[in-house]
Amino acid sequence: MKIARFSRLGFILAASGSAVGLGNIWKFPYITGENGGGAFVLIYLVTVLLIGFSILIAEMLIGYVGRKDGVSCFESLAPKHKNIWKFAGFQSVTGLFIMTFYSVVIGWILNYIVTSTTALPASIQEAETTFTTMLSSDILTQLFYHTLTFLLITYILTKGIKGGIQRLNFILMPILIIILLGMSAYALTLDAFSQSLEFMFAPKWEKINSGVFITAIGHAFFTLSLGMGAILTYSASMPKNSNLVQSAIWITLLDTVIAIVAGLMLFTFLYEYGSSPAKGPGLVFISLPTVFYEMGIIGNFFAVLFFIALAFAGLTSAVSLVEPMIEYFIDRFKWSRLKASVSMGLFFYLFGIVALLSNADAYKEFLTFGSRNFFDWMDYITASIMLPLAGLVMALFIGYSVEKQRVESLLKAQFGAIAFQVWYFSLRYITPVAMILLVLSLLEII
Ligand code: PHE
Repeated sequence: MKIARFSRLGFILAASGSAVGLGNIWKFPYITGENGGGAFVLIYLVTVLLIGFSILIAEMLIGYVGRKDGVSCFESLAPKHKNIWKFAGFQSVTGLFIMTFYSVVIGWILNYIVTSTTALPASIQEAETTFTTMLSSDILTQLFYHTLTFLLITYILTKGIKGGIQRLNFILMPILIIILLGMSAYALTLDAFSQSLEFMFAPKWEKINSGVFITAIGHAFFTLSLGMGAILTYSASMPKNSNLVQSAIWITLLDTVIAIVAGLMLFTFLYEYGSSPAKGPGLVFISLPTVFYEMGIIGNFFAVLFFIALAFAGLTSAVSLVEPMIEYFIDRFKWSRLKASVSMGLFFYLFGIVALLSNADAYKEFLTFGSRNFFDWMDYITASIMLPLAGLVMALFIGYSVEKQRVESLLKAQFGAIAFQVWYFSLRYITPVAMILLVLSLLEII
């Protein structure tokens, strides 16, 4: 039995810190842009509630009851066939795989914090050249910031949950929220705010097709950090007698509100300074810097603040991506935290270098396998296969394998009778179907 190591608020902040990441500030705005704004936002909210929230509670439950690393949690909860179910615990590996490219992106962000203090690109072309040059030929700069990212994250992880992860979130999350609110307050004073509001909330139903649903399901899932043991591992260190439902509501609320506030702010800036919202993944590294340039001197200030917020969002997610495997080696192999943290850190650091080189002109050829380079493969395999599969497995595990009575005795009072039935129904029927559709579509089978 592990002693509770998060405080109540510490857990909510850390889990929200994991959930609020590049997905909220970078991905949500651009997929909203690509999928027609309001109608997408609406569908996304419904999928977050029905599917994201359902799996979130299931994953929290597995960690909270098991109170150990992922594999041990499944083992101890599986009433029968524990030798099969324990493999579900290996979803923790996904976090390390994600980190091989997530850490590289955090490195880019750190670089952008520094460059934004002085130079901002005057045109989209210039911004694009800056970005693609960094990727294709500026290996040393990327290596420098990647190393910095590795040292920072590994150092925090060696300090453990209370002194490392919880403390990090206690400091970074409030600053992140203040920066976003401050910048949004400025956006509110601009004329384009109403345009942004309309874009985010007026539904354009003609843009909706099955692909939009799939995107919404996938994002609802990714944004809540589900399916790779992060929430599970954090929940294993929740204080006893925690209210899982209440905590899950807070996490979902914070995550969703931050995504919407970030979206409203970014679209206001984009409209006000004449860039169109649907700029795809390059949104924050290409369109935004030029928008900040247009703002004049306050633009440099905002650019630095924005990239700091983005770095903070990335760092609080990154620690949650590595912690599950650290916990695994500590619990199962009795490794010291130092040994586990440094080993896992080195893993993502070294493979991160491979990911970084796979974008560079000089190494691209050797590091491209079939249709994708190493960086894109890692992104594809984790987001399209490993995460949703783990979500499916967890829904089936709690929905079918663990006895209903046991689940009921833990959650019914926290949910209330009716809400419990809705959640259980969603977990048994709606969520598995949604997850299967998601995997099939991401693999381009349907
Ligand atoms: N939820 C994070 C985001 O929105 C990403 C993430 C996924 C973090 C899975 C941890 C685990 O960016």
